[in-house]
Parts: sequence; C-alpha cells; structure tokens
Amino acid sequence: MALPRCGRRQAYYPAPARDDGRARYLVPANERPEARVSPDRCDLPRRVHAQRDGCGYYGDSGQGRRAAIAGVYTERGMILRASVSLCENWTPRYAPGVGFPQSVASGDPTPYGAILWTRVDPAIEQGLTNAEVRALGESLGKATHGTALFQVSLSPRFDRILLAGLAPILREFDNVVRVDTDGRLSPGKTYYYRFLTRDGYVSRTGRFKTLPAPDSLSPIRIGQVTCSDYTNGYFHAYRFLADDSLDFVVHLGDYIYEAVGDPRYQAPPADRRITLPSGRLQASTLEDYRTLYRTYRSDPDLQRLHERHAMIVIWDDHEFANDSYDAVAPEERAEPDPARRLAANQAWFEYIPARVNFDPAKPFDQSIRLYRRFRVGKLLELFATDERLYRSAFPCGSGVLQRHLSKGCPALQDEKRTMLGEAQREWLLQGLSTSDALWKVWANQVQFAPLKLFGRFYSLDQWDGYPVERERILQTIHQQGVRNLVLLTGDLHAFEVNLLKRDFEHDSDERAIGVELMVGAVSASSRLELIERFLKASPAARALVYAMAREAMPDLSESESLSARLTEQILKENGRWMRRFDGWANGYATAEFTPTHMVWTAYSTGHPRQRRAKRQLLWRVRLRLNDPTVELLN
Ligand SMILES: [Fe+2]
Repeated sequence: MALPRCGRRQAYYPAPARDDGRARYLVPANERPEARVSPDRCDLPRRVHAQRDGCGYYGDSGQGRRAAIAGVYTERGMILRASVSLCENWTPRYAPGVGFPQSVASGDPTPYGAILWTRVDPAIEQGLTNAEVRALGESLGKATHGTALFQVSLSPRFDRILLAGLAPILREFDNVVRVDTDGRLSPGKTYYYRFLTRDGYVSRTGRFKTLPAPDSLSPIRIGQVTCSDYTNGYFHAYRFLADDSLDFVVHLGDYIYEAVGDPRYQAPPADRRITLPSGRLQASTLEDYRTLYRTYRSDPDLQRLHERHAMIVIWDDHEFANDSYDAVAPEERAEPDPARRLAANQAWFEYIPARVNFDPAKPFDQSIRLYRRFRVGKLLELFATDERLYRSAFPCGSGVLQRHLSKGCPALQDEKRTMLGEAQREWLLQGLSTSDALWKVWANQVQFAPLKLFGRFYSLDQWDGYPVERERILQTIHQQGVRNLVLLTGDLHAFEVNLLKRDFEHDSDERAIGVELMVGAVSASSRLELIERFLKASPAARALVYAMAREAMPDLSESESLSARLTEQILKENGRWMRRFDGWANGYATAEFTPTHMVWTAYSTGHPRQRRAKRQLLWRVRLRLNDPTVELLN
C-alpha cells in the first residue's frame, strides 16, 4: 500500500486491516501517544500496533500535540480534538443523501486538505449546543448523540479510509458540520469524503482536489462565477461547471440574493419562489437568511457543483442587502442595522465552507474576517478580498441616481474613503508586493476599471466610488513592479475584459499593469435586461435617462430601445481600457494558468428562466507571462 506523503507537520502510518477486511485506517502518528514524532520527521516506523480489537483510532489527549484530528471551528474559533474509537458501528443503512438535505460541500483547499461541510436534518440528529460542545472538549468521542463521522478516501467506494473523525453537529449554527482537514492530506490529489450519523444515515459523496505542492508549477484550471439568483431562474452555469475538469471554483459573491421576488430585478418561475419566515420581501432575520441558504442549497445544480469541486467564496452585497456597505442597506433605510448585518454574517459562516471564524459576541465588523489568500504551488497566489464590510458610505448621496449615473461630487476625492479598510488594504498591498508566485490573482468583487456612461460614473458602488484608494493600489503595483496581475471580478452581471492602466485617463496604448476579467451572472438578470426593466418601470426615470443619453448620443430617438445601443456606447466611452463588453449574457468562465501563459474562456449558458440551457463560447483571451498585452483569440 502506498503511503501518502508526509503532511506539513505529521507522518501517517497505516493501521492494520480490520478483521472483517472492510476498512483500513491511516492513523496520524502525532495523534498517538506511543508513536509521537517530531513535527518535521516523516521517516519513523511504518507500522503501528493494532489496538486490542484491531481498529485504528484517533485522539486521546496526549500532551503537546500540535493539531487536532477533527478541526472544527466553533463560534469561538477554537479547534476541538475528536477522540473516538472507530470500532463503533457506523455502517450506512439508508440511501446516500437521506437526512442531508443540503448535501455536502468543500472549500478553501490547501496542499494538505480542505474544509468539509454538511448539514444534518435535525429530524434525524439534533446537534450539540455550543455549551455542550465546549463541555465535551476533547472527549467528543464520548458523546452519545449530536456528532457526525466524516470519512476521507482516495476512492469513491471508501474501501480504504485515509482519514476519519468525529465532529460535532452544531445545533446553534443550523445543525451544520464544519471540519478542517488541512494538514492531514497530500498535495495535488483527488479525495472523496462523506458524513455518517450513528443511526446509519450517510451523505452523498463529495470530491475535491488538494492544491499542488508548494514548489509545483503544474497548470491550474479555475472556474469563475458570480451572482446566482435562485428566484430569477435556473443555475445552468453551475451544471456545466460541475462537469468541467477543474482544480477549484472561485465564487465572487451574490451567492444568494436577500430579496425574494423584487420586481425590479427578479421574476421567479413558479418552482423557484421563496417565502421568508418574516414574510418580508428582503431577508432581515437570521431565520430569513438561513431559509435562503437552505433553499439555494437544495438546488440540484448547486449541490452537484459543491459535490464535485472545492469552492473559494467571497461575498458581495446581496448576502446582506443591495448596494450595502458597513451595516447599511441603503435601499431600505439610511441607518445602520448591526443586528441584521450580524445575522447575515452568521448565516454565511454557517453555510459557506470557508476557513474563517465567526464570533456572534463581537460587533458585526469584527465578528468575521473574510479576506484570505491561497498559495497554489509556485504558479499563482490568489488574494480574496471583502469589499463590503469595511467600505465607506456613498460619496454623493444614497438615492438611485446619486449612486448610478452620477457626475460625482467633491466628497468622491476624500482621501479617507475606503473600500477595503486600512488593515485589509495593507494586507493586500503587502501580499501583492512580496508574493513570488508567477501569477498574482485577485478575486475582486466589484469592477476595478472605470465604467463611464453618458460621461457619468455608471455606478459609484464600484471602484469608481473609491478613486483615491484605487490610485494608491495602482501606484503600489507600479512602484513595486508587481507583474502578471489578473483580477477576477464579478458583480456587474456583464462580461468584460479590461486592461489595468497606471493612468486610465491618459494611457492610451496597449500597455497595461494587469488585466481585469469580469464574469457575467449565473442567473441574475443581465445588466442590459436590468436597465430595460428599470426604464420600463418608471416613465419619470426613463425621461431622465433618455435626456442624459441624448447628451452623448444626439441621434437617439424617444422610441428607440436604449439598451440596444448601449454596448456600442459603453465600448466607445471606455475604449482606452475596455477590450470586450457583453451586457446580455449569463454564464461562467474558466481561467487556466500555466508557467508561460493564462487563457480565460467565457461561456454564455442561455437565459436563466428557460429550462433548457445552451452553452456557447463567448470569448477566449490569452495573456503571456511577463507580457502586458491581451490577445483576443476570437
Ligand atoms: Fe449580483
């Protein structure tokens, strides 16, 4: 039997086969008091003594061990040790998936593991309260209820279990299970995982790939998605992506929409309606947000995507409220609502398999830290940012036409305005400046390059609303010589290819210090469809926008469809940096990185409210390493 290579801090040993031959376990050596190893030694004895009954086991509370077998993040962010005899009877007795209505998910892969996630239906197993989890501490294996067994294998048949352990089902976190296997697995491998309960319920099987070894230059293929609105249609993009060959998926936010049938941008098909417990149109309580995540995660295409690929997820505005900043939902009320923001944070933490902690006892902006980085061999480093929790208010007012199609105002240039907040900005700039990976990839929620329309800012919700901070970032990238920078962006419900310019207004050639690749929405209404709806809904707004439009397009007639001419106009006004724009398509993108080039491929997947999906190639774009130009391959 081939041994997995050593993990970062521990060796693994094969335990003997069970008497019945059904399973073998590899026991992490540093979990075993009688086979303690030094953290960096992997050449110790290859076989451990069987327990009396021939079973492998985990845990026991040896002193000085560095990591836990079952790393479980609780509300305090602590890691628990699981101590369990695997000789107990954990045999599947029901069809896979029964009792796990949201199936399984994995996220935040490292070379040595990933977060594994599931939710157990409370009707089959009520989880432990936080107090019970804390009281059990390292004696988790003695719990007679409220825990789930996770198993990890190289085979979907689980005929050899590489890693297993008990994790608490977290009753106060909507009965979810979160396990961090980082440090327990080997780089560049495909693993299968599942969860079981004591009564014999078993989840469906999930699959994920660990990231390559730190010195690897192996090519990497990433899926890119954003803006999946359940109440506006079907998740075709997720279905295609699930079947694609990928290392992981990056979700750039708007994973859920807080609204359920807002007529301005949602048109729910009969089988996609959601009623919130509060009865409101927008989620406002923890139960509301949980209802959204539970429902979204009942979608078969999203389930399949999570079952087949690890995901790295950041949020955008709709995980809380449209165009939100700090704890403010500007379309609903001007005052901050910290309790609602905290509820939105908690539901995100509960359902997203991310290596983050959440503490409900802390103020909303300190309760969670989303921004994080991923080293993918020597090939690339991915920086994932949070562009909502720390951002300043809208500079010129919060009305629709003060946020959109604004000419700007003096406050826009206020040096204190920030989207990232000081700590995150310094973290990002330091990380970009010092990373020695070939490619620097920034998972960035909202459009970084300017977007002008009729001589105005299309939206001050984007980086256009934070020009001083954007300038500071561009200056650092330029001064520090950061090369091969790729921004993967979401939010706008449009596909775009933008050159990043040291000076967007004045650099008119093809020189760029990076590129921004924006993916369209999975199922939210496309940008041009949204504009059409907005103009139809309000004759007053239509008159105002047509008056603005005629300043830039004097030949526009009152009866003409504005949206039909906007693509041409947007490309004209933003042409110094914009190389492609498509405001109609829904879909997804893939980004393939190699040591010599990267290829970004955008696909449209048809209208989200049509049942049948049709995938079509939109664009292919190639960037060569150390060459700041963009090749448009079609
Ligand atoms: Fe969106």
